[in-house]
Order: sequence, then structure tokens, then C-alpha cells
Amino acid sequence: MATPKRLVVLVSGSGTNLQALLDAVAADPTGYGAEVVAVGADREGVEGLARAERAGLPTFVVKVKDFATREQWDRALTEATAAHEPDLVVSAGFMKIVGKEFLARFGGRFVNTHPALLPSFPGAHGVRDALAYGVKVTGCTVHFVDEGVDSGPIIAQGVVEVRDEDYADGGAALHERIKEVERKLLVEVVGRLARHGYRIEGRKVSIP
Ligand code: GRF
Repeated sequence: MATPKRLVVLVSGSGTNLQALLDAVAADPTGYGAEVVAVGADREGVEGLARAERAGLPTFVVKVKDFATREQWDRALTEATAAHEPDLVVSAGFMKIVGKEFLARFGGRFVNTHPALLPSFPGAHGVRDALAYGVKVTGCTVHFVDEGVDSGPIIAQGVVEVRDEDYADGGAALHERIKEVERKLLVEVVGRLARHGYRIEGRKVSIP
């Protein structure tokens, strides 16, 4: 069995996508093909970090406000991530746009999950924006990160139907249904990338 690929997961919030990855690894430590080696965040006190600590994983926090410039923050995030020698970096609800240095180091192996069907509704409010537009289906997109906002090559997408009652709570229930699909998709995609490798040609991602 090949050595598991090393994952660093970045979080900003509840970390249920991180948990799904941790559960997948725990369910099949040799067969899954990857292991989480560290979890990073841009803020303290989030449940995502607590999940990592409960799993006995090293964590690091790199806050924008602790640095004079965004470039310095980006360098510190790059170094903190690189210290764990990841094969893949996963942004699982990490609510920051990384900079040039991070992308120079991890571009082409930095995966993000977004709660809308890109290229529609990029940015921090994908669920709310899709609902406001009145779409009948939305979903989630797992993609490689490039220098734009949620604009990198798409690896996989999952579809979720919008219900009339989703308008009543501003999208909270819809986001929960999207996250159910998103967690499964992220686990499946990261496992396939780790086990089979992949090619990125222009915008097309192929996994053999
Ligand atoms: C996910 O829907 C992600 O796409 C979005 O924020 C959510 C994070 O959820 N950006 P969690 O922290 O993994 O529970």
C-alpha cells in the first residue's frame, strides 16, 4: 500500500468538512490514501480547531491582524503550512483569500470547497446569493485554487434542489443540505486525488 498523502486542512469555522475527512481516514487508515497531518486556522476558538485537537493533531493559527501587511500574513501562513510538508492543502471553510506566496508554494495542490455551483455565486455568500437570484438548483463545487476568488479549475460538483421554504430562514436550511452533499463530495474527491493522482490542463482536471 502506498504511503498516505499528507493533508493540511485550513478552517475558519465549525469544521464539519474537516471532520468528514478525519472520519474517512479513521474508517480506513490505509485504504483512504491520505491522512490529515495538521489543521490551520485564521482565528482562535473555532470548533474546527477543537476537532483537530480532539483528534490529537497539531494546529496552527495565523491571524491577519497580527501582521502589518497582508503579504506578511500570507508568508506566515505559507511557512506554517509548509512546516507540515503537505502533499495537498484543503481549504474547508477557510474564509480568507491566500496570496501570491501561498499559491507559488501550493498552487496546483490547494483544493477548496465552495457552497454553490461555480462559476455562479463565488465569494463569501454563495448560498445567500444563489437564493436571492431565485435559482431552482444550487450545490457545491470542489476546485483547485488560483489567484481569483473561487475561480480555479473545477474537480467535482454536487447538486442540491432549492425548496420554497428555503426562503423563510435566509438559506440556513439550504446551506445545511448543501453541506451534507459537500462533505461527501470533498471526502470522495480528496481520496481520489490522493490515491490516483491527477492532471490539470488549462481548466480541465482529470483523475485517471
Ligand atoms: C462550507 O459550506 C464551505 O463551503 C463554506 O463554509 C462551510 C464550512 O463548513 N465556505 P464547515 O466549517 O466545514 O462545517
